[in-house]
Amino acid sequence: MSQSLLNAFVKRVRDEAASDKPTTALRELLKDSFSQRNSMADAIAAQEEDEVLLFEDETCSIWTCRYYPDIVLPPHEHRMTVHIAVYQGNEVEVLYHRGQGYLRHAQNRVVSEGEVLSLGSDAVHAVTAEGIGQSHAIHIYEGPLTKVKRSLFDWTNGSEIEFTMENFHAMLRKRSELDELKV
Ligand SMILES: [Fe+2]
Repeated sequence: MSQSLLNAFVKRVRDEAASDKPTTALRELLKDSFSQRNSMADAIAAQEEDEVLLFEDETCSIWTCRYYPDIVLPPHEHRMTVHIAVYQGNEVEVLYHRGQGYLRHAQNRVVSEGEVLSLGSDAVHAVTAEGIGQSHAIHIYEGPLTKVKRSLFDWTNGSEIEFTMENFHAMLRKRSELDELKV
């Protein structure tokens, strides 16, 4: 059930990503998908890993994403538009302004279940969850995310760091360590 739901979802995403107006079409598709919010959340919960690439081609990359409230993924860029739809819990986008040689915290944007947030191609964010338990989301990127050379950004001085999985994991932080998430 879960996998067939995701397979059908991927097919729809591919159609919309290849359409004339992918940004609008993908946002509408994600809003429509909330009519199956519980089933989508179950399907994301059933994935073996917290982040799973369901599909990628030149037009789109589709990921299932589960995050934890006590772990924060390091600041990074995508170099393409991303649409984030949350089916369970709350995902938190820790958004930064990026300037010449610096990174400055701008704001935190909570994306709650039943919401879609789109970030532009120049966005830089760190990611975590909020509340009880994991967040369960779909992230759709308007291009081939794994084929693009992109950067992580140092937590303290904002300098660019090559995006590798090794660097990514080394830069994970606990929520309690970050001023950006203190209330
Ligand atoms: Fe991201």
